[in-house]
Amino acid sequence: MKSTSGNDGAKRRAGESAAALVEDGTVVGLGTGSTTAYAIRALGDRVAEGLSIRGIPTSYQSRALAREVGIPLVTLEDATPTVAIDGADQVADGDLVKGGGAAHAREKVVDSSAERFVVVADESKRADALSHPVPVEVLPDAVPTVEARLREEGGDPTLRAAVHKDGPVVTDNGNLVLDCDFGTVADPATLAATLSPLPGVVEHGLFVGLADEVHVGTATGVDVER
Ligand code: 5RP
Repeated sequence: MKSTSGNDGAKRRAGESAAALVEDGTVVGLGTGSTTAYAIRALGDRVAEGLSIRGIPTSYQSRALAREVGIPLVTLEDATPTVAIDGADQVADGDLVKGGGAAHAREKVVDSSAERFVVVADESKRADALSHPVPVEVLPDAVPTVEARLREEGGDPTLRAAVHKDGPVVTDNGNLVLDCDFGTVADPATLAATLSPLPGVVEHGLFVGLADEVHVGTATGVDVER
């Protein structure tokens, strides 16, 4: 799980706000990251009190946490998420950059399949326009060719390095991640449509038009943006 920060109180408020929306008998997509972890823990507390839900995790980390807190798990073969709760690295006008935890490929599958996708974030993630480097999950053999194509599109890609060991970050799917700086993204939908078909790109972290609501934790409460 990514490390937490000085925004822990705001992250907790956002996560708990989203968890409070979850109704008995539903299926919940469980995102990845430190903010979503607060939602998963809050759901675990509600399960202990009798709430009946099933979770669909988006990563090894969210699966492990859900198991730890007692949320029964299923897969997309078994059920469709009623609601998905997931974090973001940046939010602008409801569009997102995700993938700070290198889980955006599975997150996009689960989040986009949910009837309702609820984003949880602290205030530091809010922006007027997306400018955070876009994580691009890439087949290992395709790194040089995808790097070249990203440069042609005006990006500046960097292979994501592992923090606690030598070598690159390897995703749950066995792939690598290029964090690609495009500066300020004027048109996220067009950039998303440009990145998706590049040969060797498994998934990118632009989530355009997918979020139904954003719960932004602040110093004192939660702003809900729809
Ligand atoms: C993982 C993600 C995370 O949701 C995103 O990085 C936000 O994480 P955090 O809540 O720890 O700031 O997209 O792939």
